[in-house]
Amino acid sequence: MKRVRKAVLPVAGFGTRVLPATKTIPKEMLPIFDRPAIQYVVDEALAAGIEHFVFVTGRNKGAIEDYFDTAYELEASLEAKGKTEILAEIADTKPVPGSMSFVRQQAPLGLGHAIWCARDIIGDEPFAILLPDVLIQAEPSCLAQMIEVFNETGGNVIAVEQVPADEVNKYGIIDPESREGNRIRMRGMVEKPTIDAAPSNLSITGRYILQGDVFEYLADQAAGAGGEIQLTDAMARLMADQDFHAVEYEGTSYDCGSKLGYLRASVAYALSHDELGDGASEIVRSLLPS
Ligand code: G1P
Repeated sequence: MKRVRKAVLPVAGFGTRVLPATKTIPKEMLPIFDRPAIQYVVDEALAAGIEHFVFVTGRNKGAIEDYFDTAYELEASLEAKGKTEILAEIADTKPVPGSMSFVRQQAPLGLGHAIWCARDIIGDEPFAILLPDVLIQAEPSCLAQMIEVFNETGGNVIAVEQVPADEVNKYGIIDPESREGNRIRMRGMVEKPTIDAAPSNLSITGRYILQGDVFEYLADQAAGAGGEIQLTDAMARLMADQDFHAVEYEGTSYDCGSKLGYLRASVAYALSHDELGDGASEIVRSLLPS
């Protein structure tokens, strides 16, 4: 069985739900406490053994590519001043040379279309998708938990979590067939169903391991929910030919796609910071009315 070596990170979205913060800065570069959101997602994937990243970008997303490059003047200046600790922190963010590719999605046609834009770089092998709007605190990382399942089941594996019944219309929702521990065999999935049409309250969390065959389905996928080409619809078709398992992963997810979700993530990551967590906790407490 082929190993999961590559990951696609779709980062072309405008970030309209967190404007004006995202007017000139890609939402993936907004800091969650002390680092850009995208760094957490890359770290999650690295912890799961991912070796190559494909960013599907759009206009005004150049800051992401620059972030993962050498910042020559900055690094030379830090070195001249002997600021070795900060220099080491910056060095930690740099990927292995040649391990990141960037392709453009030229029109906002939906998540399914964004993933399809990565087809030539992925080729015919199983690959991961991580939606950078969703940050997940988990040990082992969410993707590592999924790869553990994938190594036993093969096929396709997606991460799910339970959501309140009145929120199913915000997510892709799976139709479970049977469950063994945290592993669920699936028989269907639907993107953003109404409460009445939802087959469960298990939402797709934004982490996927898919076979390269999904690109064939994405190639002619018709627009679905919201008038967009949906990844969920292509996966639902692929399911007729291939196994799909869902993993109810252990961990906590943070949806940074909204202003309050972003705040929640920022506070949570500050509180769990190795060195600054205690200080962050004092500040958060002091801000609450007594
Ligand atoms: C996307 C997916 C959806 C998934 C969600 C997770 O929706 O289409 O299936 O549940 O991410 O955040 P979006 O949030 O882009 O509308």
